Amino acid sequence: ASYFFMTRGTLIAIEGLDRTGKTTQTTKLINRLAQDGKDVELIKFPERTTAIGKIINTYLTDKTFQLSDESAHLLFSANRWELSQKIYDLLDQGKTVVLDRYVYSGVAYSSAKGLLFDWCYSPDIGLPRPDVVIFLKFKEEENFEREGFGDERYEVAEFQQKVKIQFEKFSGQDNWKPVFVDGKNIEEVGELVWKCYTDATKQALGPVQN
Ligand code: TYD
Repeated sequence: ASYFFMTRGTLIAIEGLDRTGKTTQTTKLINRLAQDGKDVELIKFPERTTAIGKIINTYLTDKTFQLSDESAHLLFSANRWELSQKIYDLLDQGKTVVLDRYVYSGVAYSSAKGLLFDWCYSPDIGLPRPDVVIFLKFKEEENFEREGFGDERYEVAEFQQKVKIQFEKFSGQDNWKPVFVDGKNIEEVGELVWKCYTDATKQALGPVQN
């Protein structure tokens, strides 16, 4: 008889300010994980196709759509709860799950608007915890001037600066891995992202302690 022990998959979240190349790096990471033999699943938040996601999409793209900051926040959180069982199920099936934005975006964007950080965090408590959170960031503000900026509700330089400050509050968590993108090309950032992943999986295995 042969025995097959299936371990759960790895949960990876990719976070970053708008226009840090997050989507490009997410695609790169997924391709590399697949090449590495992993069964990979991508979940992007907000997931705009669900019932709640459709409201979020309208909120983000239609600046005349009225919603209080608190309501918007709770919808973003509810959108993650809509997918939480699916995330557990995929991990149980041994899949590697990559999340493009997650809890941290939720808290950072809403608290940057002036809502209390702890209040913002509480509706997300209990969601599956990522093994690693890869945070794409830059030191300089010049990215805020990049082309295409300002298309959606939150893409205003001053606001992005506030979001950055809120994101940094997670830097004490042991699954938090910052990656600086300044002056680096896609390949170089990709290598750093991959290292975050491999380090995290090594860490999960853990050395023998004495
Ligand atoms: P996203 O669809 O990732 O847009 P982009 O690909 O342009 O980065 O996210 C849309 C916006 O929603 C983005 O400005 C971040 C914001 N957001 C929140 O405010 N709260 C949340 O919980 C999430 C997931 C995103």
